[in-house]
Amino acid sequence: MKKSWNALLVTALAAPQEAAALNNSVGLKPHMGWSSWNVAQCNAASARYALATADKFISLGLKDLGYEYINIDDCWSTKSRDGAGRLVPDPAKWPNGIKPVADKIHSMGLKFGLYGCAGEKTCAGYPGSQGHESGDAAQLAGWGVDFWKYDNCYTPCNQNPRPQTCNSPAGNTRTWYAPMRDAILGVQATRKLHFNLCNWGRDQVWTWGAQYGHSWRMSVDNWGDWASVERIGSAAAGISQYSGPGGFNDLDMLYLGSSKINANQGRLHFGLWAITKSPLVLGLDLEKISAETLAVVRNKGIIDINQDSLGKAATTFRPPGAAAPVGGKIYPYWAGPLSDGVVIGLCAGTSAGTYAVNFKDVPGLGGTRSYSWKEMYTGQTGTGTSVSFNIALHDMRVIKVTTA
Ligand code: GAL
Repeated sequence: MKKSWNALLVTALAAPQEAAALNNSVGLKPHMGWSSWNVAQCNAASARYALATADKFISLGLKDLGYEYINIDDCWSTKSRDGAGRLVPDPAKWPNGIKPVADKIHSMGLKFGLYGCAGEKTCAGYPGSQGHESGDAAQLAGWGVDFWKYDNCYTPCNQNPRPQTCNSPAGNTRTWYAPMRDAILGVQATRKLHFNLCNWGRDQVWTWGAQYGHSWRMSVDNWGDWASVERIGSAAAGISQYSGPGGFNDLDMLYLGSSKINANQGRLHFGLWAITKSPLVLGLDLEKISAETLAVVRNKGIIDINQDSLGKAATTFRPPGAAAPVGGKIYPYWAGPLSDGVVIGLCAGTSAGTYAVNFKDVPGLGGTRSYSWKEMYTGQTGTGTSVSFNIALHDMRVIKVTTA
């Protein structure tokens, strides 16, 4: 019988998951970093962007907060493989190839990621890895790549000619991911890659993603607007139980600070992604990031909640008297366990107002005792049996309740 991905990882490391984390293994916490795609799509898939972003990780203090991966998305290679079937970094974007860039990023204490695709071509029409999986994994390992996002364009499905995007349902999409998963396991002795599945939530990827990779996109793209935050954030509530150390729901890149989303919506976007244990991957041009956006993505209290060792995603709960959740809308009440307490998220997703909860109604708290709490956006602290906040439309409050 085929062993699961996690079982193989654990076997490879000859240690349980917790010990593996101490050994600096991958994927045991939601990954944090930056991706080129939302910044300037194909134009940002270059050494120049990768190195400039690495510098910004240091100068803006992001590295110290845990932002680690510099991930280059689609369009980094030439449009065809070389005569030996190898991927070729586009010389206009990578004048000295990939390895010196990865080396430089490693020397700064950071990690480097690339993007590929399970089909014949990537979504933007660059070479895909189908039929080349083991060779490509060996190339990635040789370059010192730490992270491999793997998309699902030009994949085999019941359509002829093969479309860029298969109609849904597209059948068993696991078969698209297994060969690369096995190829990555094959190079595990020389390079431990984080394998990020990007199948846009097809085929209920959250139910099997942990056997194939370390994180999986559970939706189509975050288009950078409030409608995307609503669509993706609300869907995260129903799949929280599938996220955990070694395998996390990926809600897609953070897009706050764009012209399509206001400051309140940006706080809810970041806070909700954090408490649902999504990877925190900045899809922002760090040369242009505003002080306001920076303050949100550098919120250490919220980052610490995201990176909590328990790795359990928050989901919605319904306090007595509260209305039932409405599909596609952000429900006001969220909670999730932490290693030393509980996080409560209060979201004014549909209307501004006063949002209050009694701790006795919160999953993981209960009883009549009084607790200490801290709200991470305002810095407010207190002790008692309840919390209450006036929250502006589309804003959020993230409250850590300490039980220790
Ligand atoms: C999409 C993917 C995006 C980005 C893009 C590149 O399929 O969801 O995150 O990677 O392809 O072409």
